[in-house]
Amino acid sequence: MIPMIDLLKQYRDIEEEILEEVKEVLESGKYILGPKVRSFEKEIAAYHNVRNAIGVASGTDALNLALKALEVGEGDEVITTPFTFFATIEAIIYQGARPVFVDIEPDTFNIDVGKIEESITAKTKAILPVHIFGHPVDMNALVEIADAHGIAVVEDCAQAFGAEINGRKVGTFGSCGCFSFYPSKNLGGYGDGGLVITDDGEIAERIRMIRNHGSSGGYIHKKIGLNSRLDELQAAVLRVKLKRIDHYNELRRQRAKYYNERLSHLVISPVEKDGYYHVYHQYTIRTASRDRLRENLSKKGISSVVYYPVPLHLQDALRFLGYHSGDFPVAEEISKEVLSLPIYPELPEDIQDLICHAIEEILA
Ligand SMILES: Cc1ncc(COP(=O)(O)O)c(C=O)c1O
Repeated sequence: MIPMIDLLKQYRDIEEEILEEVKEVLESGKYILGPKVRSFEKEIAAYHNVRNAIGVASGTDALNLALKALEVGEGDEVITTPFTFFATIEAIIYQGARPVFVDIEPDTFNIDVGKIEESITAKTKAILPVHIFGHPVDMNALVEIADAHGIAVVEDCAQAFGAEINGRKVGTFGSCGCFSFYPSKNLGGYGDGGLVITDDGEIAERIRMIRNHGSSGGYIHKKIGLNSRLDELQAAVLRVKLKRIDHYNELRRQRAKYYNERLSHLVISPVEKDGYYHVYHQYTIRTASRDRLRENLSKKGISSVVYYPVPLHLQDALRFLGYHSGDFPVAEEISKEVLSLPIYPELPEDIQDLICHAIEEILA
């Protein structure tokens, strides 16, 4: 079966350096929040040109801690997209707040910024845009709306490490940018990991405390926190990959371009808006023949995945929010037509050719 992603290929390319780094950690006797995490945080902050980066246990926790540090809680509303991974919504609900969905754009699949303002109420505490599949949300327009209403912005950058708008990286537009280092992410570790970036020193300090049991050091606890720390082994691995992330993203973009050239006459291929730098965490096409295409690709030994088959407002777990079918027609239609194809930096051209050939055959 041709897989969606081949993580072993990348490991083989950087094996020597990874093993050296891992050995150094194992021989250091420091395994949690040590020198590798501190260096990684500095390097990530420099990469984004922000003052603070705080390593945490996962992308989900990056969102949890950012929202907690912004004091999002009981009775608050957080505006977000119904077309994202479930973790985005869990983070809002774990604070006791209510997610308020706004429909998406049919081309980028991102929250439709033009529809945000009509959903703002006196209870709106934050907006949580998600740069889905690696294409940035229109952050300049979104931040303008948030600022006009005095609302915080937390960016879910889990799928968009390195993505940009006019040369400015995602994660730097809002109060906080949240990242996931889940192994399959563009910058992925060999286990769970996450990180928050922020220019605000006070928010950074709060997140640092919350990730470590609310401690300000020496068993003095100023807040109720939790255990959400990035470990040294993950930081060591991520530092090796961070040096290569721009190259990896470029390789993804080359593969996306190849797909575009071969497939855009058969399906709706992903857009990259002017001035935007898409990092193609997923290469997601749209076609009315989605289910037939997927079934036949599978018969030919080619993996493909539907991200996401059911928009979040129609998920059983969120029925209590009271949304109904028809509330977000674009998200509902998109979820019936999208299909993500294999993409990763090392994806060989002959395999891509085979995938495109199969799609040509199925849809011809
Ligand atoms: C959009 C989005 N948000 C949040 C997360 C959560 O990240 P993690 O799996 O590291 O908790 C993910 C990925 O898994 C994601 O794709």
